[in-house]
Amino acid sequence: MNKQLRKAVIAGNWKMNKTPTETAGLIGQLKSAVQNPGCEVVICTPFTSLPCAVDATKGSCLHVGAENVHFEASGAFTGEISAPMLTDLGVEYVIVGHSERRQYFAETDQTVNKRTLAALAAGLKVIVCVGESLGQREEGVTEELVRLQVKIALQGVTAEALKNVIIAYEPVWAIGTGRTATADQAQEVCAAIRRVVGELYGQPAADGLTVQYGGSMNAGNAAELLSKPDVDGGLIGGASLKADAFAAIVEAAGR
Ligand code: 13P
Repeated sequence: MNKQLRKAVIAGNWKMNKTPTETAGLIGQLKSAVQNPGCEVVICTPFTSLPCAVDATKGSCLHVGAENVHFEASGAFTGEISAPMLTDLGVEYVIVGHSERRQYFAETDQTVNKRTLAALAAGLKVIVCVGESLGQREEGVTEELVRLQVKIALQGVTAEALKNVIIAYEPVWAIGTGRTATADQAQEVCAAIRRVVGELYGQPAADGLTVQYGGSMNAGNAAELLSKPDVDGGLIGGASLKADAFAAIVEAAGR
């Protein structure tokens, strides 16, 4: 019932895929495949595709996000992109703390927090990713770990700014493996995320928080995952690169 209080959000994370030229093509397909969605639809593209994505989605129901952001606004950080650079382009969303960034690019809970604060300050909506590895699940520490990740990511985030935060639960073992969490596993952790946000900000804020599941979500399993009371949306990798598969997930979320 509380589900009606919050926005369902389906976001595609294209990761390191699609040139700007290919981006224009895929967005063209997505615009015909996704029309009048019953949820918010976001596509997160590589930095180089963002200008094209913003341009190509104008006047459509598609919103554009980046996949990472630096925590300083400007300065001597060779190769980095700041939040004001993204907003100036017309980008609305950014993913922060994806497990691939934690794993390959030394992202920590502390830098996730800094990026979240910087992005919010610039007016971006932030999708904060959390989730456990297979080893951590087997050790039985999933809930504690995810609680910790959420608490540190949100340090210094005001209740007002929290309205621009989405938390994505992405179990690392389910990403790109074809091994989806069961709907019950996704529900259990998404509910735990909402609980910790409730402890930090109060129940109304927790009830309003959009929590996504991500990890091998596809056209076949989306409806069941999204039917769970605390799963408000999805963060989609592989299936977001195919217009039909992505549109089917969007449709499942709108039901
Ligand atoms: P897959 O959907 O390819 O498993 O990727 C999920 C993901 O990492 C989204 O951020």
